[in-house]
Parts: sequence; structure tokens; C-alpha cells
Amino acid sequence: MTMQTLATTQTLSTIAAMRDACAEARGAFGARCRLGLVPTMGALHEGHLSLIRAAKRECDVVAVSIFVNPTQFAPGEDFERYPRPIENDSAVLEAEEVDLVFAPSAEEMYPHGVAQALVDVPDIGVRLDGQFRPGHFRAVATVVAKLFHIVGPDLAFFGQKDAAQVAVLRAMVRELDFPLQLRVCPTVRESDGLALSSRNRYLTAEQRSDALALWRSLSAVRILADARTADAAALRQAMLRVLQSSPNMHVEYADIVDPDTLLPLDNIREGALVAVAAHVGTTRLIDNIFLPPSIDGSRR
Ligand code: PAF
Repeated sequence: MTMQTLATTQTLSTIAAMRDACAEARGAFGARCRLGLVPTMGALHEGHLSLIRAAKRECDVVAVSIFVNPTQFAPGEDFERYPRPIENDSAVLEAEEVDLVFAPSAEEMYPHGVAQALVDVPDIGVRLDGQFRPGHFRAVATVVAKLFHIVGPDLAFFGQKDAAQVAVLRAMVRELDFPLQLRVCPTVRESDGLALSSRNRYLTAEQRSDALALWRSLSAVRILADARTADAAALRQAMLRVLQSSPNMHVEYADIVDPDTLLPLDNIREGALVAVAAHVGTTRLIDNIFLPPSIDGSRR
């Protein structure tokens, strides 16, 4: 059996051209074609590559979007300074043999300047990060819905590091009956535990070392949970102790929540998402882990 692939990486910047390229790529593989989409804001790192490689394993055609979506940044956030290493990203996507790259301008995505229709996931969208970034998840859901309509993927790949984003998008896909499946890939970390993020490049050496407190706080919770501490308040206190021992850390939240609703849990018997967000200097970082129910199925 010969494995069919598309010849080269094609980069498209208009919605019409991307739709045509997706239709053509699908045509090359026939009715059973699986098209995978990896939505990104560029500044690609190993975390993104793990999503692309997961998409390559499961899909016949892989599309990556690169769009620094202005509407999901509040005034005063890092939209202007968000890294845009376009040439490096293009080289990486070619080396990964991505089939289609969609890199539209803001004018192409929002011809009227701002979105004229919005996708809102109320409740979930105002929890965790949504509580501190008003309107952020409405903007994320809106741009991802647009990307889904433009590309028409069968599978879409996101990173677990953005756990609240995942919960919002799962609800959007379910409630609005998008005919696709979400795949959520594990967080990729540096050898010392720091979760990869395009924003890590803002950190000085000292701040990077401070930022490790996020991972240490999650690890402290894991150790306590493994030792059968199930009380979320006690676990949360342990996290805060670690975070507050780092002088340059301004904690936004350190919570133990249900991964689907993002509502706080009293205990971790049913599995839990332990999530943290903090500013180190002017850089906002997030991280999280899951605490699964005990492996043998017994309740903690
Ligand atoms: O996770 C991101 O990079 C962005 O929020 C996304 C999903 C590409 C939407 O702009």
C-alpha cells in the first residue's frame, strides 16, 4: 500500500483560498479523508509540535492556523509584543510536513474591525482565566468557531496547558453541534518542569527560575494527593504556600476544579483539575495537572 501525501506545505492568507485548498486536499484523499486542524498563534515550540505530530498520526491532511487573534487580548495585555517569528514558524511547519498553513491578517478575519457576531459560553467562560480576563473566552470561542467553519476539520488539536480554554471549546463544540472531535494533548515541559509557552521567552533568567514555583506547587499537590489527602482546601493551601514562597510571584488563582464545569471541588474523589495562574514580573503564566481517581478504582 502506498501512503498518499500532499506535495508541499501550502500557505494561504485568505478565507476563500483556504476553503479551496481544504476542499482540494480532501478531494485528493476521497470521502474517508480525515482533516486535522491545529489552531495556534504562532511562535511555535515543542508543545505545538506535539499537537502537529498527533494530528499527523491521525489525519490524512493537517492544517495549522497562525493568527495572533487581537480580540482575545485585553487593552494592556501583550498583543503588541506577542512574538511573531514568521520565518522560523514557516520553516518549522515545512520541516514537519504540514500540508496547509492558514495565516490570515486581522482584516481578513475581522473585515469590520471587530467581530460582528460572537460565540459565548457563559458560566464556564467566566471561570478560572475567564474571571481575570473578561471577554477572553468569548473571543477565543468566536475565533475558533470561525476557524472551524473555514477549515471544516474532522479533528482539532489543543494543548492541556490551556485547560480552561479546553473546557470552553468542549462546551462550544457540544452545544453548537460542530461535527468534529477535539483532541487534547498533554502539556510539554522543560526538563525542570516548566510548561512550554510562547510567553516563556519574555522571562529573564531570574524570572524563569521564579516561574518554576508553578510546577512545584502542582507537584506538592500531587504528593499530598498520592498520600491520600483529598480535601481541596488543604491541597489549595499547600499550593499557595509554595507559590507565595517565590517573591516575584503574583498569584491570580490556584484552584481545584471539575475539569468540565471548572467549578470548585470540595474534594478530589472524582478526579480534579488543579490549575494555577500567576504573573511573574509582567508575564502571565498558567499551568495545571489532573488528579485522577485512584488507579485501583477505590475512592480516596
Ligand atoms: O491557544 C491559542 O493559541 C489560542 O487561544 C487559539 C486557540 C489559537 C485561538 O486564538
